[in-house]
Amino acid sequence: MPDATTSPNPDASAPNPHLAAYAARGLKGRIFSGVQPTGNLHLGNYLGAIRNFARLQNDYDCIYCVVDQHAITLWQDPKELSAQTREIASAFLAAGVDGSKHIIFNQSMVPGHAQLAWVFNCVARMGWMSRMTQFKEKAGKDRENVSLGLFAYPALMAADILLYKATHVPVGEDQKQHLELTRDIAIKFNNDFAVPDFFPVTEPLIFGATTRVMSLRDGTKKMSKSDPSDYSRINLTDDADAIAQKIRRAKTDPLPMPETLEDAEKRPDADNLLGIYAALADQEKEAVVAAFAGKQFSEFKAALTELAVAKLGPIGAEMQRLMKDPGHVDGILRNGAERARALAAPILDEVYRTVGFLKP
Ligand code: TYM
Repeated sequence: MPDATTSPNPDASAPNPHLAAYAARGLKGRIFSGVQPTGNLHLGNYLGAIRNFARLQNDYDCIYCVVDQHAITLWQDPKELSAQTREIASAFLAAGVDGSKHIIFNQSMVPGHAQLAWVFNCVARMGWMSRMTQFKEKAGKDRENVSLGLFAYPALMAADILLYKATHVPVGEDQKQHLELTRDIAIKFNNDFAVPDFFPVTEPLIFGATTRVMSLRDGTKKMSKSDPSDYSRINLTDDADAIAQKIRRAKTDPLPMPETLEDAEKRPDADNLLGIYAALADQEKEAVVAAFAGKQFSEFKAALTELAVAKLGPIGAEMQRLMKDPGHVDGILRNGAERARALAAPILDEVYRTVGFLKP
C-alpha cells in the first residue's frame, strides 16, 4: 500500500497536470464533497464541511452531492430518505452555495458513481478496507450482521470523487482516513493500468477553527447525527429556544473559564465550546480564550447562545423555507445531475476503455 502520509507527488515542484486547465480559468482546481441524507444535520456538518463549501466556490469549480447511496448502507425509511435528501440540498443552498454556477445533485441520479465504485471494489484491497476506523465504529460488535455496502462504502466514496477527477475535497477531520484511501486507490489504478496521472491524487481541505466539533454532552466524543441524545448536538433546523436550551445544558467543568489555550486544551468540554464560538465568530480560538478568561461559564454560554442564534437562525429559516418548496429543490437536483452526468461520462468511458471493457 502506498504510504499515504508522505507527499503523493515525489517531485512536489512538478506541474500537476490536473490543475493546469483550471489555472487557465483562474481557478485552483475542482472540488467534490458529499453529505449523507441520514437526518439531524448538525453544527459539526456545518462548521466542518457545509460552511466551507460556500466559502470555496469563488476559487474552485465545485460539485456538491447528497450521497443517498451511502445513506442506505444502514437501513433508511424510504419516505424519510427522500425528505432528508431535500433537506441536505436545502442546507447547501441556505449556506450560500450557488446551484446555478456550481453543481448540487443527489448521487443516485448519476449511475457513474456505482459503476466506478465496482471497478474500485476490484482495485482496493481487503486489508486497506479492514483498517477503516469508521467501519469498525459503525459495525461495532455486530460485524457479521452489517451490510456489505457498509464495508465497501469507502470505495464508493473514492468513486464519487474520482468520477469527476476532483482535485480537492473539503471535509471534517473524521473523513481524513477515507481520503487517504481515495489517494491509494487512485495511485493503484494509475499504476495497475499504466496510466500515470490518469486519476489525480486528491488533496483534502480540512480547515476552520473546528474541524472536529464534539458532542455537547461529552467533549471527548464527536458530535454525530446518530447520537441518541438530541442534547448532544445543535441541529441546523433548531430554533432559537432549542439552541439556547442545548447550550445551557452543555456539559462543562466546575472551574471558571480557561485562562490560556493550553489550559483550554486540557479541558475537552470547555475547549469544544470555545472552538465553536471561535468558528462561528470567525476568530482565532486564542482570542476567544482571552476574551472570556476566568469568567463564569454562564456568562460565556449566554454570549455563545446569542452568537449561535444570530449565525444559524437565518440558515435554519432558509432551509425551512426551501423544504416547503420541494419542486424547486428537485429542479436544482435534476439540473445538477444532468451537468454531473455530462462531466462524468467521458471519464467513465476512459476508465472502461482502460480496463478493457467492450463498448455496447
Ligand atoms: P457525513 O455525512 O457523515 O458528514 C458530512 C460532512 O460533515 C463533516 N462532519 C463533521 N465535521 C466536524 N465535526 C463533526 N462533528 C462532524 N461530523 C461530520 C464530515 O467530515 C463531512 O465532511 N463519507 C462522508 C460523505 C461522503 C463524501 C464523499 C465526502 C461520501 N462521498 C466524497 C467527501 C467526498 C460522510 O459520511 O459524511
